Amino acid sequence: MSGDVSTASAGNSTASAGNSTASAGRAAVRDTAPVLSAVDVRVEFASRGRRRAAARAVDGVNLDIAAGEILALVGESGCGKTTLARTMLGLERPTSGQVRFAGRPLSYRGAALRGYRRSVQLVLQDPTGSLNPRHTVYEAVAEGVRIHRLDNEESRVADALARCGLRPPERFFQRYPHELSGGQRQRVVIAGALVLEPSVLVADEPVASLDASVRGEILSLLLRLRDELGLAALVVTHDLGLAWNIADRLAVMYLGRIVEMGTPEQVFADPRHPYTRALMSVLPESPIEPIVLSGEPPDPTRIPSGCRFHPRCPELASGAAAAAGVAGQCTGAALPVLPAAGPALGQVSCHLAQAKLAADSADTAEAASTDAADAAEAAEARLHNSALEARAAVTQRLTRITFISWHSSLLRNSCCWRVILAARRSSVAGFWTAASRGHSWRIWGPRGGSSALPAYAW
Ligand SMILES: Nc1ncnc2c1ncn2[C@@H]1O[C@H](COP(=O)(O)OP(=O)(O)OP(=O)(O)O)[C@@H](O)[C@H]1O
Ligand code: SF4
Ligand SMILES: [Mg+2]
Repeated sequence: MSGDVSTASAGNSTASAGNSTASAGRAAVRDTAPVLSAVDVRVEFASRGRRRAAARAVDGVNLDIAAGEILALVGESGCGKTTLARTMLGLERPTSGQVRFAGRPLSYRGAALRGYRRSVQLVLQDPTGSLNPRHTVYEAVAEGVRIHRLDNEESRVADALARCGLRPPERFFQRYPHELSGGQRQRVVIAGALVLEPSVLVADEPVASLDASVRGEILSLLLRLRDELGLAALVVTHDLGLAWNIADRLAVMYLGRIVEMGTPEQVFADPRHPYTRALMSVLPESPIEPIVLSGEPPDPTRIPSGCRFHPRCPELASGAAAAAGVAGQCTGAALPVLPAAGPALGQVSCHLAQAKLAADSADTAEAASTDAADAAEAAEARLHNSALEARAAVTQRLTRITFISWHSSLLRNSCCWRVILAARRSSVAGFWTAASRGHSWRIWGPRGGSSALPAYAW
């Protein structure tokens, strides 16, 4: 497996140009209405042999791509990425489910489909194979304009080439593909898609055939187009480094299904599906010990029961799933298709990951209830203390009042009632503060002292 999904090293080194831009764009696209969606899409290919089951290349996929969002679809060879991408483009008709564009189901009738193809454009992996060697750059880019009978052909072509960094565009008009570098050829392919002003690009391994020095250029170009034109893109790739560098969201596919989806930060930092963990473990700086998947390569004509990953799952083999009490579900209970939109922390299709999540949220709830109990206890203690303080204050005040009254009656001082009133009206603290400032002698003093009572007594 690890050989199928290339490590990120190449992508990391070449695409880092786009990294900061990608991160900046990630926040911007969330919560935007999807422009292109797959709703429980399934695609089966009939097998030639009579006894052979159909190949379920895509076996239930929900996916939303928002305007200005780059969604990277990763997974090992044969998991159904290209089939899903072709289905999203309308090149393959789903056996069941729906592709929706701008909220409406895709129509497969001629004119409607032609209109749709203008809005959702394909960029293929191999620019040399995508370009006709007998066509000049101008003819290659103008082809779409002619098919869709658009006006201002030359200015559209020049504009698309310039947007793709081929400047001045006129210098490239009469060149043939063999007169261009690999990066320039891929730019011409992208210009050919852009000339129709699409809303979505579907790019199948857009930089896989390019050498490392030009990958970064093409990735930066895709990011710039996203930022400048609000272009959405579905980027199919084996290269996790590329996915990390350009994707706003990452979908991990295994045997026709998306098994984990989230932002690259979520999925790279905390991969929760054992398959995703295995993919991430082969990245150069991964903190996860490299995981080598055993078992047979997946076959879409023989999808295992229960969790489709169970024959190769390291967590099931190691007994971790059994320890969590989900081993029976792993082999026997099918997992539902992941929804297109999910919780903020990403989505995962795994019994064990779900059990861990449930345990984590139970822990969190328990911690929250412990915190709440502690807080209630602290509040009660505070209440108790303040009641005690209040009682002490009242007792103190009463003691002093009694003391004052007693002294007053002893002295038969006419100010006695005033002193009692003073004690009632003023706070104990204020009373004694004032008393400590030297007024007390007047209270305890000889007859007539009442006139000298301080103001706070009233
Ligand atoms: N036209 C077809 N007829 C029959 N089977 C097909 C057809 N197209 C694809 N398949 C099968 O569907 C499965 C998914 O193929 P797909 O090309 O979508 O995989 P992928 O993930 O793009 O692989 P890779 O990374 O190698 O390009 C494969 O097992 C493939 O053999
Ligand atoms: S459901 Fe079970 S078998 Fe499947 S990936 Fe999760 S732990 Fe492994
Ligand atoms: Mg493919």
